[in-house]
Amino acid sequence: MNRFSNISLALVAYAVCLGFGGTLLGGEKSSPSDDSLNQKLTQVLQEAGFTGLIESTLEQRLGRAVDENLADLGRNLFFDKILGLNGDNACAGCHSPTRGFGDTQSIAIGIDNNNLVGPNRQGPRNQRRTPTVVNTAFYPNQMWNSRFVALSGDPFENSLGFLFPAPEADSLSYLPNLLTAQAFIPPTERIEMAGFDFPGTSHDIRAEVVRRLNESKPYRKLFRKRFQEVKDEGAITYDMLAAAIAEFQISLTLANAPIDEFARGDHGALTRNEKKGALLFFGKAKCVSCHAVSGLSNEMFSDFTPHVIGVPQIVPANTNATFDGPGQIEDFGLEQFTGNSADRYKFRTSPIRNVALQPTFFHNGAFTTLEDAVRHHLNVRKSAKNYSPVGKVAADLSGPTAPIEPVLDLLDEKLQKPIKLSDAEFEQLVAFVRGGLLDPRALFLSDLIPNKLVSGQDPLEFE
Ligand code: HEC
Ligand code: HEC
Repeated sequence: MNRFSNISLALVAYAVCLGFGGTLLGGEKSSPSDDSLNQKLTQVLQEAGFTGLIESTLEQRLGRAVDENLADLGRNLFFDKILGLNGDNACAGCHSPTRGFGDTQSIAIGIDNNNLVGPNRQGPRNQRRTPTVVNTAFYPNQMWNSRFVALSGDPFENSLGFLFPAPEADSLSYLPNLLTAQAFIPPTERIEMAGFDFPGTSHDIRAEVVRRLNESKPYRKLFRKRFQEVKDEGAITYDMLAAAIAEFQISLTLANAPIDEFARGDHGALTRNEKKGALLFFGKAKCVSCHAVSGLSNEMFSDFTPHVIGVPQIVPANTNATFDGPGQIEDFGLEQFTGNSADRYKFRTSPIRNVALQPTFFHNGAFTTLEDAVRHHLNVRKSAKNYSPVGKVAADLSGPTAPIEPVLDLLDEKLQKPIKLSDAEFEQLVAFVRGGLLDPRALFLSDLIPNKLVSGQDPLEFE
């Protein structure tokens, strides 16, 4: 994308500061003469259906070029509190550019926050961690429990419709892609952005958001530049807003990581350790059996299917969300959507591109190092039973956890048997997940923070 094309030499220096190892540093680069390792990995990637070309398919999938002007309008909206009727949150308050457009927290903090975005953000917790919006254009379903779905399995294809929970249901199916349909939801979420003061339905909330936009002279000016209807003195509509926000997120396609470069034939893109880690990921450690790269996965390292993987259930001391179970301290995951108790505790396999940028892991951020998150998969029962939130997550999440036995009773088949890796193998696997899947452009996303909000409101403060 043009937005990122002027990043070149500064990159390596910057990466050094941030402590990203391996490839970016040029550190322990493997020599092209590591022939047998390269051959093996090339073959494994081919067998897995991984091409490293997914990013280059974007415009063909969209059926047009990315609209840079529209994306830039969407960028301004993404950061602006004008979309939050409570007056204190924007998309970026949870999807922070400082963290790859994912959460700075273990569990999202929405309305009634202290205006900070970062480790010191405070306020009542919502239910789950904010996932990244980077690369979401390619997701065939969205959310931790896959409840926003492109029924064709292709997010760029609306012929079979897009399905959302009520009240939207299939009413957003006329939109061109799943991401544009999704943009109708967050401003209507009371605990995320809307607050409890404004009365009415989701429809009323959207009408109020666009009413406020239409009252803003600077926004009218920006929309006028891009939409003929507004130029002709027509109103800004929610559809325009959704198109802009979606376009911004589409422009955040950062799927050119070292593993992609390797798959396209640049054998120096991964370090030797990362290559060995990749062989484990696709082989003995069986990660790819869920973090899939073929078919509908669009090379996003997820099968986009919910599984029970035994994540400890941490409990917020202060929440404005409604949790599940008898004590209202549990998260039933997919069951919330399907109403089927067989789906209890199931969460979608995380697409793990750019996971190195996350400060916390899993749907509730129960783990705070990538090592712990990977180790958990290798011996789920041991990890879950030995888990304590104390000293890991924020103080207001460090109280007693909700029961883990009922979760472990439903543990996915694939993770029943512990997987044994040597210390060296474990390090290689983590090195691959951390460095091999990181698109270096994702280190510069804070450059996208606008200097001021178009609405004139007080901007969020990014730590
Ligand atoms: C209060 C924090 C918060 C705000 C504000 C917020 N989000 Fe989110 N977002 C989340 C959380 C949490 C999830 C996952 C929710 C779940 O799965 O139950 C999510 C999920 C998403 C997803 C799906 C990602 C995936 O992996 O499937 C997209 C896309 C998204 N949000 C875009 C937006 C946009 C656009 C806005 C602003 C209009 C916005 N969000 C505002 C917290 C937030
Ligand atoms: C049974 C399917 C399955 C297998 C096998 C599997 N994972 Fe996962 N993985 C998941 C699911 C599901 C989640 C999200 C769970 C949650 O948040 O509740 C996840 C989350 C993760 C995360 C955290 C990502 C985030 O957004 O917080 C990492 C890292 C990860 N997996 C790496 C691996 C590695 C490495 C392997 C191989 C050792 C592996 N996984 C094997 C299903 C699987």
